[in-house]
Amino acid sequence: MTGVWTGVAEAYARSFAGLCAGAVPTMLDGLPPGTRLLDVGCGTGALVAEARRRGHDAVAVEADPEMAALAQGRLGDDVAVAALPDLPHAGAGFDAVTANFVLNHVDDPRASARELVRVAAPGGRVRATIWTSAP
Ligand SMILES: C[S@@+](CC[C@H](N)C(=O)[O-])C[C@H]1O[C@@H](n2cnc3c(N)ncnc32)[C@H](O)[C@@H]1O
Repeated sequence: MTGVWTGVAEAYARSFAGLCAGAVPTMLDGLPPGTRLLDVGCGTGALVAEARRRGHDAVAVEADPEMAALAQGRLGDDVAVAALPDLPHAGAGFDAVTANFVLNHVDDPRASARELVRVAAPGGRVRATIWTSAP
């Protein structure tokens, strides 16, 4: 993980989190009820909260411990702390794997994308958003 995320969790929650949340419905639309979902780089946990509201079995992983603590407060359970491209999850364990505006922040996007696929079940869905241009 790049150091840019260290110490910014509260500020992120008050600012860019709202922008990123705009993509959450599209990330979740069409998933069958009860989908086992892993959200990678969960930030404040908005995607997982909405997935659960829709009836999915959703859990989160986040690279920054402070951000993970914020998400934990919102979701009410443990949020795994780990960074792409090395997730601690077993292979093929999730029907859907999401990464909302995360792959554009990792050091190795290709290896990270492969890791998202690794933890997805055969025939599962991997959905990721990125910004369309670099700042
Ligand atoms: C733009 S934020 C998006 C957060 C969240 N997905 C959302 O939609 O609000 C990027 C997130 O990716 C996390 N992140 C950065 N590098 C990561 C990595 N290597 N593995 C997992 N998460 C990472 C950051 O800590 C941050 O929470």
